[in-house]
Amino acid sequence: MKLSGKVAIVTGAASGMGKAIAELFAAEGAQVVVSDLRVEGAQTVVAGIESKGGKAIAIAANVAKEEDVQQLIDTAVSEFGTVDILINNAGIMDNFVPAGDLTDELWDRVFAINTTGVMRTTRKVLPIFTERKSGVIVNIASAGGLNGSRAGAAYTASKHAVVGFTKNVGFQYANLGIRCNAIAPGGVSTNIGTTITAPNPFGMERAMVGMGLNPRAGEPEEIAKVALFLASDDSSFVNGTVVTADAGWTAY
Ligand SMILES: NC(=O)c1ccc[n+]([C@@H]2O[C@H](COP(=O)([O-])OP(=O)(O)OC[C@H]3O[C@@H](n4cnc5c(N)ncnc54)[C@H](O)[C@@H]3O)[C@@H](O)[C@H]2O)c1
Repeated sequence: MKLSGKVAIVTGAASGMGKAIAELFAAEGAQVVVSDLRVEGAQTVVAGIESKGGKAIAIAANVAKEEDVQQLIDTAVSEFGTVDILINNAGIMDNFVPAGDLTDELWDRVFAINTTGVMRTTRKVLPIFTERKSGVIVNIASAGGLNGSRAGAAYTASKHAVVGFTKNVGFQYANLGIRCNAIAPGGVSTNIGTTITAPNPFGMERAMVGMGLNPRAGEPEEIAKVALFLASDDSSFVNGTVVTADAGWTAY
């Protein structure tokens, strides 16, 4: 097993990629903190992991709230003793709203979850990692973090920020035994569509221009396998970079 004895925190783990990552990590021997805004969903994931003999706990946490982030990491440490792996996965879409139609409210909400949440969990685990001189962070960015029109302006900017943050943390803490990488998934079959409540027609039309180039949608389990690689010692020489997983969509 690749994560035997490791303690992993996964945000947004009630659904989609976070759920698949939590399940795979538990199957690989990790003790998993299944965290989500929706705690019932997280508890269902924990029950599934336990039914297969794995070890997990559910913690309610809104990554956009500093007090929730504090409590998430503190509870993980009090329950499991430490944190070895942080997977920043929680994220929302932005209704494909283009720059000219953006509201401060939408911009702030998308950044609070997709970007500030990543910063806050990272800020909170780094003292633990630096003291132990080991730790791994994997951020779920997006093809929209590397390209210009996979979503609206706020989502695109929020995920580009995650890519920059990933590289900064990866380099700055490299000599302290800490690695920080990101995954840029293409289209993956999850429940994220439920966060697209009122798509902006102009922005969506502009975002969909390249969809004909997409070879196929991915499954959450395919992203979980990339996360396992990045979280395990198999990727010991991989740091401060972004792994694209999109069936070749962005290679054109
Ligand atoms: N699905 C895709 O096509 C795709 C592509 C590229 C990147 N991503 C990214 O992958 C990540 C996971 O998304 P998914 O597709 O699995 O979506 P999903 O909606 O299936 O799962 C996301 C989970 O995050 C939780 N969540 C939302 N806001 C939260 C908050 N403030 N605090 C804590 N949890 C919160 C939700 O309750 C949900 O359980 C996101 O960061 C998303 O931007 C998705």
